[in-house]
Amino acid sequence: MAEYVDVHSHILPAVDDGSKNVEESLELLSMLKEQGVTTVIATPHFLGARDNIDDFKARINNAKEELFTAKEGKDLPTVLIGSEILYFYGMGMLEGIKDLTINGSKYMLLEFDFIDFNDNVIKDIRRIRERHGIIPIIAHIERYKKFKNYKKLLKLVETGVCKAQINASSVIDNVFTKNAHKLIEKGYIDFIGSDTHSVEFRPPLIDKAYEVIKEKYGEETAEKIRQNGIKLIENIK
Ligand SMILES: [Fe+2]
Repeated sequence: MAEYVDVHSHILPAVDDGSKNVEESLELLSMLKEQGVTTVIATPHFLGARDNIDDFKARINNAKEELFTAKEGKDLPTVLIGSEILYFYGMGMLEGIKDLTINGSKYMLLEFDFIDFNDNVIKDIRRIRERHGIIPIIAHIERYKKFKNYKKLLKLVETGVCKAQINASSVIDNVFTKNAHKLIEKGYIDFIGSDTHSVEFRPPLIDKAYEVIKEKYGEETAEKIRQNGIKLIENIK
């Protein structure tokens, strides 16, 4: 079975709207394992300006300890810790954001909830890269098509300032599938993530998403995205 990496998940117990407890976390990890996932990046929500970085880190650390103790000795995927940061204007100026990267690396998963990628926002995203050397991975990039100036966000990916992640569920079937496929076809997508929250709500579908990509866009496209995940892990471990 192919080895997959899941770069986006809410599998840490009781820290956000994802896994409710450690039992559910173990169940999600075993589902991922069955799909051929060998490494999962846990990316709990960091709610932009509303969360305090030190409190967040402490909360995440406790959940991590709990999960790591529970999974010890079990044949489950490796878990690395990151966060999914809800973008807030000015974060490019904030020194503390370095504490929110994936496993202390130069990669950071970034999501958006506003509706305009205007020049100031684009400049601020660029600052994350230029000032701190952090490479933003845009979380579920297929979702932002209706936002104003979406093309400017795509330009950041095109020029290599940012990387792009797509949700497995969007590859398969949801309201974003049309745009998701357009982005795959045009070569914008670097990574696939399950963005799994629970066994019921958005369960992990990594293997199915790869199958769809293989079928529609060929082995080479699927393999390139799969390898990107593996290379990412090699870079951040
Ligand atoms: Fe997420």
